[in-house]
Amino acid sequence: MISRRAFLTHAAGLAAAAGGARTAWAAVRAPAPTPITVYKSKSCLCCAKWVDHVRENGFAPTVHDEEDMDRIKNEMAVPKDVRSCHTAMVDKYLIEGHVPAADIRRLLAERPKAAGLAAPGMPASAPGMLEPGASVKPYDVVAFTSAGTTTVYSRH
Ligand code: CU
Ligand code: CU
Repeated sequence: MISRRAFLTHAAGLAAAAGGARTAWAAVRAPAPTPITVYKSKSCLCCAKWVDHVRENGFAPTVHDEEDMDRIKNEMAVPKDVRSCHTAMVDKYLIEGHVPAADIRRLLAERPKAAGLAAPGMPASAPGMLEPGASVKPYDVVAFTSAGTTTVYSRH
């Protein structure tokens, strides 16, 4: 008959094996976070909250704190009409402002002929902007070309 001690050791071994299997399985299941490079102004709080939002949704942000965002936006050729606070680059696409992570995911899956996505201005209900308890105001995310033409990509 199996002793209590032997049983406990055995049970612990099984649990460890199951834990190990679960870790290996998770490693197979969960895709590696998608790299995204973010340029933001040092003092921008909403930008930092948006960085948290993308990090929590499967992205691996590399953040550059900048003094002069206008210079960055000029260098990266972000059309004037779609400009917001921060500017990011994922794959070959520009992400301007508080674009939800789900839209970036869709962009990377669909790969449209566009320079990028923008949430122009600072929509009050976009990720990183919405204050707890604030009423939700609809906003659009647009796809833009380098020439500055925009089409609605998603409505929120
Ligand atoms: Cu902002
Ligand atoms: Cu920002």
